[in-house]
Amino acid sequence: MTVRVLFVCLGNICRSPMAEAVFAHLVERAGLDGEIEIDSAGTSSYHIGQRAHRGTRDVLRRNGIDYEGDARQVTPRDFERFDYILAMDSDNLADLRRLMPKDSQAVVKRFLDYADGVKIHDVPDPYYTNRFDDVYALVRQGAEGLLAAIRQDKGL
Ligand code: 4NP
Repeated sequence: MTVRVLFVCLGNICRSPMAEAVFAHLVERAGLDGEIEIDSAGTSSYHIGQRAHRGTRDVLRRNGIDYEGDARQVTPRDFERFDYILAMDSDNLADLRRLMPKDSQAVVKRFLDYADGVKIHDVPDPYYTNRFDDVYALVRQGAEGLLAAIRQDKGL
């Protein structure tokens, strides 16, 4: 059984592609890439078809992680396809809850709810702050906690 995980932010060019790439890296390192499928999307249509922000690509490259994805917008179908849908901040979560079909079985939560010992709930947006390294550190913590939780939930 494949577990499907979707990361969501506003533009799908800064935070959610970073989370997608970091999580994919951890999943691959754990030898679980056959078991877990990963994607990211934005709540907005602002950047559809664009590659990730240079700041995200640079911080990933500096940490030895490749990323090739293009931005897309979240769709109602995503709530059928994905088992876990992780919002990068509370605004993204509220937007997802508005879009979510009533019969969706997906776990829809804030990504940082999985980050052990992290006291903030929202990943600050580097599109405005330019603090891509700080965001990377947070994303790494969230991704580690999320993988541990999924392994526990799904017996992987
Ligand atoms: P992201 O960052 O949601 O982390 O991809 C943003 C990207 C673009 C915009 C806002 C946030 N924008 O307003 O275009």
